[in-house]
Amino acid sequence: MSSADTAIELSEVVHRYGDVTAVGPISLTVPEGEFLVLVGASGCGKSTLLRLIAGFEEPTFGTVRAAGEPPVPGRGAGLVFQQPRLFPWRSVGGNVALALKYAGLPATPAHVDALLARVGLHDVARRRTWQISGGQQQRVAIARALAVENPLLLLDEPFAALDALTRERLQEDLRGFSQGRTSVFVTHSVDEAVFLGTRVVVLTPRPGRIALDLPIPLPRTGITPDELRRRPDFAALRAEVGAAVRTRSTEEVPA
Ligand SMILES: Nc1ncnc2c1ncn2[C@@H]1O[C@H](COP(=O)(O)OP(=O)(O)OP(=O)(O)O)[C@@H](O)[C@H]1O
Ligand SMILES: [Mg+2]
Repeated sequence: MSSADTAIELSEVVHRYGDVTAVGPISLTVPEGEFLVLVGASGCGKSTLLRLIAGFEEPTFGTVRAAGEPPVPGRGAGLVFQQPRLFPWRSVGGNVALALKYAGLPATPAHVDALLARVGLHDVARRRTWQISGGQQQRVAIARALAVENPLLLLDEPFAALDALTRERLQEDLRGFSQGRTSVFVTHSVDEAVFLGTRVVVLTPRPGRIALDLPIPLPRTGITPDELRRRPDFAALRAEVGAAVRTRSTEEVPA
């Protein structure tokens, strides 16, 4: 039985696409409020794991529980993908309003503006999505995921397509937005993993299994990103995660 403060519980999970075993077996317990980062080689099953947690896929073997129940697609989790996936025929505010409507919440302009303000977009509600930058579009995608007070935030390489400066800003902001929520974040960047995570899990090449499960006991408030990155323990954690990623990604992928 999972305890009351368990947000996600994977138990002996294996997922196959036809003959291809994409992940597993994996067992993982994520307590409420954790910011879990998944790192691993391309094709090792990170997106599959997120889809299993979101309920878009069902495990071939084993069980997945979110808040103690089998996850229901479209319920209980805010999702952010690598591409913002906004509706180009709607305004920026219209995209956020749609997320509110789907959730059965009132989509008043004041509510939409408040959500956009939360991600630092104060004056763009009436613009079309193609009239804002890529970083701003990704902020809209985050606002949409935050629109509903879902207990879970699932983010699949949300900053991969952004320039370094925008990426750093959004990483810093995400640390703020995600306070008090359970998050699972996928990235290929070891630096991003250690900066954002309260825990980092490195997966083996396909089929993804847990190669390293490392708590990140770094301060999350009262410190600037530069100060954090200059700390010797930040460097040591980054080195440990980096070594696990490198070891695992050069091993042969089992048939
Ligand atoms: N719908 C599908 N049908 C068949 N095979 C799939 C499907 N989706 C993913 N796979 C395969 O399952 C494995 C895991 O895919 P997944 O997308 O989870 O990897 P990933 O770790 O997210 O990779 P990346 O870092 O490139 O995004 C890969 O070998 C992939 O080719
Ligand atoms: Mg992926």
